Amino acid sequence: MTRVVAISGSRRTESTTRTALRVALDAAADAGAETALIDLGTVDLPLYHPDEDEQGDSERLRRRVREADGVLAGTPVYRGSYSSTFKNFHDFCGSEEYEYTAVGLLATAGGGSYGGTLEHLRSTFRNVHAWTVPHEVGIRNASSVVDDGRITDDDIRQRTERLGRVVVEHAERLRR
Ligand SMILES: Cc1cc2nc3c(=O)[nH]c(=O)nc-3n(C[C@H](O)[C@H](O)[C@H](O)COP(=O)(O)O)c2cc1C
Repeated sequence: MTRVVAISGSRRTESTTRTALRVALDAAADAGAETALIDLGTVDLPLYHPDEDEQGDSERLRRRVREADGVLAGTPVYRGSYSSTFKNFHDFCGSEEYEYTAVGLLATAGGGSYGGTLEHLRSTFRNVHAWTVPHEVGIRNASSVVDDGRITDDDIRQRTERLGRVVVEHAERLRR
């Protein structure tokens, strides 16, 4: 079965990023994938240290990404880029984890601008040989369209669901 893992780069308890990723994951599950969520707000992952082979949950999390055929990567927009929480996880994983993996990108913004964040995600995932899919989701004014565990704006919800389906479709193609 095709495996899809979502990685949420927010530490907020009421994270809009995590909610949006769950919407995409549910669509991936409906498309036939086995799904799981890595909530970086709840894992034990110290600041990456290049002298350490493994830290906290790092090996367990790397294995989950390595075994996934598709990844849904989501982050809040912080200072026009992705969060430090997301970057820290990024430093633990490389091409060993992402080669032949379809990756769908999602960013949530407090204001109106998420383009730079998606661009930074795209280029850094490509750097580790991930196959980023062309369909991407940016959610502006996230707190006004993500509420109570769901996306209230129909257009954004449909785009987010489509992201889950597109990742499954490409993950199936890349499976070896
Ligand atoms: C440190 C920090 C920096 C932020 N920088 C931006 C920014 O540059 N542009 C923007 O639109 N929103 C910015 N925001 C707002 C978040 O992107 C927004 O609230 C997001 O939806 C939070 O996602 P979450 O609910 O998953 O934590 C920032 C928030 C924080 C805490």
